Amino acid sequence: MESNNSRRNFLKKSAAIAMGTIAATSIVNNVFGASEYIEKEKATPDGGKFTLPMLPYNYDALEPHIDKLTMEIHHSKHHQGYVTNLNKALETVDGNVLGSPQSFENIFDKVAKLPTAVRNNAGGHYNHSLFWILMKPNAGGQPKGKLAAAINASFGSFDGFKTQFTDASMKRFGSGWSWLVVSKGKLVITSTANQDNPLMNLDSIEVKGTPIIALDVWEHAYYLKNQNRRAEYIASWWNVLNWDAVESLFAAVK
Ligand SMILES: [Fe+2]
Repeated sequence: MESNNSRRNFLKKSAAIAMGTIAATSIVNNVFGASEYIEKEKATPDGGKFTLPMLPYNYDALEPHIDKLTMEIHHSKHHQGYVTNLNKALETVDGNVLGSPQSFENIFDKVAKLPTAVRNNAGGHYNHSLFWILMKPNAGGQPKGKLAAAINASFGSFDGFKTQFTDASMKRFGSGWSWLVVSKGKLVITSTANQDNPLMNLDSIEVKGTPIIALDVWEHAYYLKNQNRRAEYIASWWNVLNWDAVESLFAAVK
């Protein structure tokens, strides 16, 4: 796990996006610009409600790689469901157990003591919020600069990384996520089941760290277009992966 400060800063940034306090147009222009992060400081929902963040692009913007109907249902139905159910689940939590604020940082830290519905829906809300901004139209390609160097050092080459990440995504049995995380200063590929993520303070999380790439491998992410062909969906997703955002997250972890 990174230092408490860097982890806290990262979570605050992520929370601002999840809370919908960062304007979608700003995200398009500058995924993690400094001004948005200042706003993020105010974003922690202390007593407030979590809300569905707007996508930083239209539902059809990722065509032909990820189709409009999948994006619309995934965002407006599935992600909205996590947000709604997270707010409901939090109403049942004893304030003494969670304390304040009701932030992702606090929820993930205390998740082992919280109801399963909080774990599943807080994970669902956070994971999807990250997933959306890590895609954009006309993207894909390869990372640059320090991230490219770190990937080459960790995985031998970009192609080596791509193969290993794809393999981890294919091997996740059932529903879950695959991740590239910064863990103890190193880049590591890992995966989690259901809506868990590497930020959760749970023994079952194999690699704890700060996510910089998130890939949703639930069938709801691809079934309408690709049916059961997860490999086809993953191959399409590489074409919309927003390396600018990944690089920003990587820089923010340090
Ligand atoms: Fe999903």
